[in-house]
Amino acid sequence: MTTDLERVGHEDVDRPFHERAAAAAGFALEHPCWGDPDVDWDAYDLVVLRSPWDYTTRQREFLEWLDRVESLAAVHNPPSLVRWNLDKHYLADLAEAGVPVIPTAFADSEAEVVSTLRSHHGDPIVVKPSISAGSRNTGRFAADAPGALALARTILAEGLSVMIQPFARSVDQEGELALVHFDGTFGHAFRKGAMLAPGGGLRGGEYRENVQPAQPSEEQLAAVRAVEAAVHRLCRDRFGVSAPLLYARYDLVTLDDGSPALLEAELFEPCFFLHVAPDSARLLADAVLRRRKIA
Ligand SMILES: Nc1ncnc2c1ncn2[C@@H]1O[C@H](COP(=O)(O)OP(=O)(O)OP(=O)(O)O)[C@@H](O)[C@H]1O
Ligand SMILES: [Mg+2]
Repeated sequence: MTTDLERVGHEDVDRPFHERAAAAAGFALEHPCWGDPDVDWDAYDLVVLRSPWDYTTRQREFLEWLDRVESLAAVHNPPSLVRWNLDKHYLADLAEAGVPVIPTAFADSEAEVVSTLRSHHGDPIVVKPSISAGSRNTGRFAADAPGALALARTILAEGLSVMIQPFARSVDQEGELALVHFDGTFGHAFRKGAMLAPGGGLRGGEYRENVQPAQPSEEQLAAVRAVEAAVHRLCRDRFGVSAPLLYARYDLVTLDDGSPALLEAELFEPCFFLHVAPDSARLLADAVLRRRKIA
């Protein structure tokens, strides 16, 4: 069974595919919301986090719920990993582990923001919060544009770190590439079109994801294998988790020098966009069944 979102600006496009795959695999699926106080979590064999997208504005509540549900049920991916993955400072850990991560500076004060922006000399950059989903408070600016500092101030006022990255120009042409894994094995990939308008805000003024099936290159597959291996080592060494993760989605962009780099590792709230790869629903259902047998 999987837990469902409290929907935040995003249709749950995967749900019908999960429902069909679970029915075919012969297990019952329910979609309770994490925020629903009346759910009897210990009645479930397995709790699979899938789309709790409102955690970004309800972090404390979500973390408290995670502590509680962890004591009541088998939860995937493991809550210790989720706590780490919820805050994009995880990118610094992965970079330190040798993963090709998009260069990312974290700033915790206006002075740090100003000096980081200066170091980008008016080049295109992206400003975003350390805890975010759905491109919330994420903007693309010239580094010396007043909007960049204004957005950074908004993020700091929410008590979050400001992330500043070079804008990967290739995203305008080719978007980003997401590689989805189930039980540590590559399942499918899709390309997601550019989201950010120059000067701040979203393209077309609203959050709309344009997703197409995609075939990763050898170089992209190698990059994602390096990410997977680093995440696996980190899970084992830091969280005592050595089994493959039930699912993972790794988003890559191409840097201006042509090399692939990790933009995000989505380990507890990825949309899989199963309409571009319906067979992947079965891969996840099989992985769920394997865990139910182990539990
Ligand atoms: N450094 C970057 N270069 C180019 N585009 C970027 C960069 N960072 C973010 N973007 C664009 O902004 C979007 C949202 O950024 P990101 O994925 O990091 O944040 P998020 O809030 O987790 O969003 P989502 O849930 O939509 O994936 C990306 O899908 C991409 O189009
Ligand atoms: Mg993203």
